[in-house]
Amino acid sequence: MKIITADYIYSGGVYLQNRAIAFGEKIEEIDTFEALLDKYPDAERIKSAPYTVIYPGFINTHVHLEFSANRTSLRYGAFMPWLDSVIANRDELLQECDNSVMEHEINEMLNSGITSFGAISSFGTELEVCENAPQRVVFFNELIGSNPMYADMLYNDWLERLEASTQTEPSSRITPAVAIHAPYSVHPVILQKAVTEAKKRKIPLTTHFLESQAEREWLEKREGTFKAFFEKYFNTSTPVTTVEEFIHAFDHYPALFVHAVQANKEELDHLASKGHSIAHCPRSNRYLGVGRLKIESLPLPFSVATDGLSSNDSLSLLDEMRAALMLHHDLEIKRLAQSLIDAVTIKAARALQLDAGEIKVGKAADFALLTLPDIPQSDEEIALWSILHTKKASSVYIAGEQYV
Ligand code: BEZ
Ligand code: FE2
Repeated sequence: MKIITADYIYSGGVYLQNRAIAFGEKIEEIDTFEALLDKYPDAERIKSAPYTVIYPGFINTHVHLEFSANRTSLRYGAFMPWLDSVIANRDELLQECDNSVMEHEINEMLNSGITSFGAISSFGTELEVCENAPQRVVFFNELIGSNPMYADMLYNDWLERLEASTQTEPSSRITPAVAIHAPYSVHPVILQKAVTEAKKRKIPLTTHFLESQAEREWLEKREGTFKAFFEKYFNTSTPVTTVEEFIHAFDHYPALFVHAVQANKEELDHLASKGHSIAHCPRSNRYLGVGRLKIESLPLPFSVATDGLSSNDSLSLLDEMRAALMLHHDLEIKRLAQSLIDAVTIKAARALQLDAGEIKVGKAADFALLTLPDIPQSDEEIALWSILHTKKASSVYIAGEQYV
């Protein structure tokens, strides 16, 4: 047993003072330091630095590690030039992205307080580094393929990857999971089979969804920049599905819809009615010029995620939250900061089906400690100051073990 104290503990939506946490792998009790010491006299005692806030460990719900080598290869500013550049540079970027490159980024995430992440995997090449990562990893095996000629082959390859991620060492913190690439790139027959598989196994499910205006134009009107793309690479000018058909494929099992920047009110209301949630990637959306997700009017919960280094400059959620404060410049900043903290903790844990993301008895003892540069003069601004003033976590715990 360990007992940790700090000036503030973020628990149940408030910043508790004069409290401590007793924990093993899970949180056992929250009380005063003295009361916990009386109860657990042999516990290891940990006193945090002044002005420290203990947050639940941050959870990055959507990241592509396999693109970690990208810095200046991919084109930003609009979706289709970016996707073209992904196809042109893909082989080289994947080749440059060896285990050491991915390990470096996993460690960067750890230092920025990330104790869990959802890794989207196209080929399964990240499995080894994710097995060795200290974090909890929801390993999203991604299904892609709109051409019915190859659909069965791609599905079988996907199923093998899903199985491989299911048979990992018990010591690793991997949860196997299912990712659908996007409405335009997955044939409805294999899409439905994969969703059924996720439901049968009760494992997390995610999909990219209406990221760009171009995607909407293609699915709705068979027009726009996707038309030339599909004619060039797939010799077709017909999308494989409609927005409506795609959404309904997820009606019977809750999923994490990534981006949804171009989803309309009716679609979002439908997603909300089926218990889905959104992953919001502010910097990725800005860099690819796809628009701003209107988080102020979302009828369903959202988490905040970095996406991959294919469309970002870091995998830090502290960086991401700072960017979100700027992107959503019309929203009241203190309340926005607080909702961002919830988006990377409790909301993210629910989206990835993790028993973490809250400082509450029975939850995983995953903590990100952020140390403010000076004493906060009001509770109302603690979330904002935490986001603005910390580039790194001062300590990080996962399953009760200290890693930073
Ligand atoms: C497809 O298989 O349809 C696809 C793959 C990659 C990007 C876009 C579409
Ligand atoms: Fe993504």
